[in-house]
Amino acid sequence: MKILLTGGAGYIGTHTAVQFVAAGHSVVLLDSLVNSRPEVVARVERIVGHSLAYYTGDCADPKLLDQIFTDHDIDVVVHFAGLKAVGESVEQPLRYYRNNLDCALTLCEVMEARGVRRLVFSSSASVYGTPEQVPIPETASLHAANPYGATKLFVERILADLAVANPAWHIVALRYFNPIGAHPSGLIGEDPQGIPNNLFPYIAQVAAGRRDKLRVFGDDYPTPDGTGVRDYLHVMDLADGHVAAVEHIADQAGWRGYNLGTGQGVSVLESVRTFEQATGSHVPYEVVPRRPGDIAECYADPTRAREELGWVARRTIAEACADAWRWQRENPNGYAAD
Ligand code: NAD
Ligand code: WQD
Repeated sequence: MKILLTGGAGYIGTHTAVQFVAAGHSVVLLDSLVNSRPEVVARVERIVGHSLAYYTGDCADPKLLDQIFTDHDIDVVVHFAGLKAVGESVEQPLRYYRNNLDCALTLCEVMEARGVRRLVFSSSASVYGTPEQVPIPETASLHAANPYGATKLFVERILADLAVANPAWHIVALRYFNPIGAHPSGLIGEDPQGIPNNLFPYIAQVAAGRRDKLRVFGDDYPTPDGTGVRDYLHVMDLADGHVAAVEHIADQAGWRGYNLGTGQGVSVLESVRTFEQATGSHVPYEVVPRRPGDIAECYADPTRAREELGWVARRTIAEACADAWRWQRENPNGYAAD
């Protein structure tokens, strides 16, 4: 199949592009580079061994999208494009609503006009807000704790309504838990701009000496060791989940959500220990007060993805740590050094 990846030069988009090509599909990438760099596409091309169709531009630009559908016979669209920093979304809600909703609405309008109605959407475990139960099934109640999570919830609703209005649409919302790690080549990985918000890139930068120590945000949660528990999955497993989804979507009309997670909760301190054991590095840390908005536990019930998509996370957190460490050591400044 020919697959359009909006936001395809991003962390998850690049890893997914590699796995789509490995599975025999062809890909077209679109990215505004608001959170990426031109060099990133060249790295993906080095891994797949050939050039890729790539467009720089805004996913909310209907003329650009229409041109892409004219240039390429697209079978499925995977919609990664979006702003994703929770804290930033609280400070800049209008920017987040404008970007993330405009992208989704414009993309759907152009797809409808061009008769392309197979869509995989990058959703997030953040649609569950503070979960009432763990592990979290797709049937859990949904509510957004911040503007970023709200954009995911709103787009899921827009897509569900679209699928009701026109049963010709086949839509899958993949609710990612906590992606970590990097492609084993060390050529692509997570490249947060500035101080990393997320735990694993911060751990990697401490281990590499770029930061003096990890601040552990609270050890007074109702969890086994008092620190936050999350469902960390290797980004390559997440990419494989997209391969499974696009190969399943033709057989399933309507809208359906799937959790992509390991089903295992891991704490901050366990993550630190695993990273040190997997890499032989040292990660000094200091426990500090909780980060506002954080929740104690969040991990997936991944049964539906296993039963319906035939997908299971297979790689270990230790493998993700080793792959993240290789990326960090070989690219101490991310893609900036290119
Ligand atoms: P990322 O920022 O690395 O990738 C997103 C890409 O989209 C970036 O390259 C950015 O330049 C591009 N982009 C943003 N707005 C755009 C626009 N208007 N037009 C074209 N391109 C645009 O983030 P990621 O971690 O790869 O996340 C990809 C998707 O997965 C996002 O929608 C994110 O919300 C979602 N998600 C990420 C996580 C995570 O922890 N990384 C978890 C759950 C869901
Ligand atoms: C994980 C754990 C922190 C950093 C976020 C977004 C979510 C999704 C995934 C987009 C928590 C602790 C972290 C640090 C720490 N992104 N921590 N010190 O918050 O589960 O999810 O990324 O969809 O929407 O909210 O991930 O990596 O920020 O935190 O102690 O320097 O690590 O308290 O328990 P989170 P995270």
